[in-house]
Amino acid sequence: MKKFFVIGNPINHSLSPELHNFWLKENGINGSYSKVKLEEGDLKNFIQKLRKDEIHGINVTIPFKNKVIKYLDKLSLEAEKTGSVNTIYKNNQDIIGHNTDVAGFELGLRHSKINVLGKSTFIIGAGGVVPSIIYSLLNMGCKKIMLTNRTIEKTEEIKKIFKEIKIIKWGEIPDFDIVINATSVGLKGDILKLDFAVKNKIFYDVIYNPKETEFLKNAKIKGNKIENGKLMFIYQANQSFSIWNNIIPEIGEKVLKIIP
Ligand code: ATR
Repeated sequence: MKKFFVIGNPINHSLSPELHNFWLKENGINGSYSKVKLEEGDLKNFIQKLRKDEIHGINVTIPFKNKVIKYLDKLSLEAEKTGSVNTIYKNNQDIIGHNTDVAGFELGLRHSKINVLGKSTFIIGAGGVVPSIIYSLLNMGCKKIMLTNRTIEKTEEIKKIFKEIKIIKWGEIPDFDIVINATSVGLKGDILKLDFAVKNKIFYDVIYNPKETEFLKNAKIKGNKIENGKLMFIYQANQSFSIWNNIIPEIGEKVLKIIP
């Protein structure tokens, strides 16, 4: 039986097992996918299980996406450039770290028919997921990427990796086609203190629980198109599954209903 895990801390909130176990069953694969809460000191031993073929694949979530890197043998281009690993597997004798958040973001947008080619994007926040979003936007031919964060130093760190981005002062709103809220504001019903007086733009929030954050609710009232991070989440899982099992599972109505 193939064993898969998602590791993080906290981990209780993770809906990855629901998706993966559904796809394992649907595709007749004898496997199980569970969540495990780890401490940083446990990472090395846990990854060792993959080396010894005791387990088959690992998803990594907050706060370990960067911390696992030193225990891996090779990184994909996406993982290397973003400094972020969410999928680990064994290839021949090597333990490989990959980042499927990059493809997940792109495939989620394509699913919703949002095209960023030649567009301007304004990103708010500088947490762990932001390098993946920037990498993905660049892949898709986004013309201009602007970044702001309450703590400005963090945007400067990201600019060291992606020199082409423009840093915007906190509180300023530039012209944009798409704005992405990548902060954790909204998770607990907090409100982002930025004033958007625009319409007919696209507002995207990485958060999908709640389905509509205040950021999205206000944008909708003002006549903007809104999108949350649910499809990004489903597609990153879908890509991890395909790496481990050599099958791209279907994303149909049933799967879309698994995530509320
Ligand atoms: P992770 O790496 O886990 O995604 P994080 O590093 O804690 O999360 O990042 C959360 C993001 O939400 C950061 O950009 C954070 O801004 P700071 O870097 O200034 O902390 C942003 N954030 C959280 N609460 C916020 C608030 N009340 N107002 C504005 N930004 C906030």
